Amino acid sequence: MPENMERVPLLEIEGLKKYYPIEAGISKKKIGEVKAVDNINLTVYKNEVLGVVGESGCGKTTLGRTVLRIIEPTAGKVKFHFDDKEVDFTALDKKELRKMRRYLQMIFQNPYTSLNPRMTIFDIVAEPMRLGGGFTEDEISERVKTLINKVGLEVKHLNRYPHAFSGGQRQRIGIARALVMDPKFVVADEAVSALDVSIQAQILNLLKELKDENNLTYMFIAHNLSVVEHVSDRVCVMYLGRVVEMAETEELFYHPKHPYTEALLSAIPVADPTVENNRIMLPGEVGNAANLPSGCCFHPRCKYACEECKTKVPELRELTPGHFAACHRIEDLKLEGIGELKVKNSSKS
Ligand SMILES: Nc1ncnc2c1ncn2[C@@H]1O[C@H](COP(=O)(O)OP(=O)(O)OP(=O)(O)O)[C@@H](O)[C@H]1O
Ligand SMILES: [Mg+2]
Repeated sequence: MPENMERVPLLEIEGLKKYYPIEAGISKKKIGEVKAVDNINLTVYKNEVLGVVGESGCGKTTLGRTVLRIIEPTAGKVKFHFDDKEVDFTALDKKELRKMRRYLQMIFQNPYTSLNPRMTIFDIVAEPMRLGGGFTEDEISERVKTLINKVGLEVKHLNRYPHAFSGGQRQRIGIARALVMDPKFVVADEAVSALDVSIQAQILNLLKELKDENNLTYMFIAHNLSVVEHVSDRVCVMYLGRVVEMAETEELFYHPKHPYTEALLSAIPVADPTVENNRIMLPGEVGNAANLPSGCCFHPRCKYACEECKTKVPELRELTPGHFAACHRIEDLKLEGIGELKVKNSSKS
């Protein structure tokens, strides 16, 4: 988003939670719950790309899907602002939701499993228009053809089935389907993770072009920071269902305030093979969302953890305008951002 542009909220996510029950035996008795998304508060501004990053299992997909009500949240609200109206998206009944759905769409994580193998490309891309209703077959046909060209495929592809296409082409089909109803907000869930690096760049460029052309706002989900760096205006870092840090992209990369972000930054690959990697190896695995560590969820893996971190959950605090972090030790740590890491690397070569 250009710096001088006024920030207008598009989505306000308030106290969003998704807990999955863990059931045992044939009686399906609830014996616990997986806190996949645990009390997330954030605002997505019009025309921005909000990157969401974190390790596998931290709740990125669950966040994207609960925001769009592809899965129902356990608690919380999603307010959607459009045409000077404010809609409580979480309070809509089924019929209203079907009408509003067109404005909020998703590009799914895996292009190999997200397209129905028994449907032609035409029917896949047309599906949201048919479900939404109110269009003639001619209108549908025209719109599908326009979209398929926009994403770089040809009209002659429309009668084929998904198996005839490569991963990159399938992701283009997924993008056409997400955009066919002219949405305002798109969740791109690891839209490029399953693709070769050269194809990743093509798809990222396509997403950027389509954003500019169609005034879109994206939530761009990825599991590492290097993918979000070049596409995001702001970045939100998640750990075990919670936001641990959020800031403008450059601010987050150069001045991280959370030890987890510092570790993710240190893991960005360095292109020069003569340079030794300064990667911070996090001990242990990402914690268990069904049995969250006490206090700060990150404390068992954090080299800076103190006694307070073991017992008290840190709140997400705004440190400077727009820069939020949840860590008890923010004030006394001097964490290394991408700037220090680059200097360290170049002095070793
Ligand atoms: N339907 C489900 N039932 C129970 N637990 C689930 C379900 N879906 C996801 N989970 C759990 O919720 C947590 C978050 O999963 P989610 O898929 O949102 O993570 P993610 O960050 O998208 O991971 P990845 O990077 O692997 O895609 C995980 O612990 C996962 O096992
Ligand atoms: Mg996921």
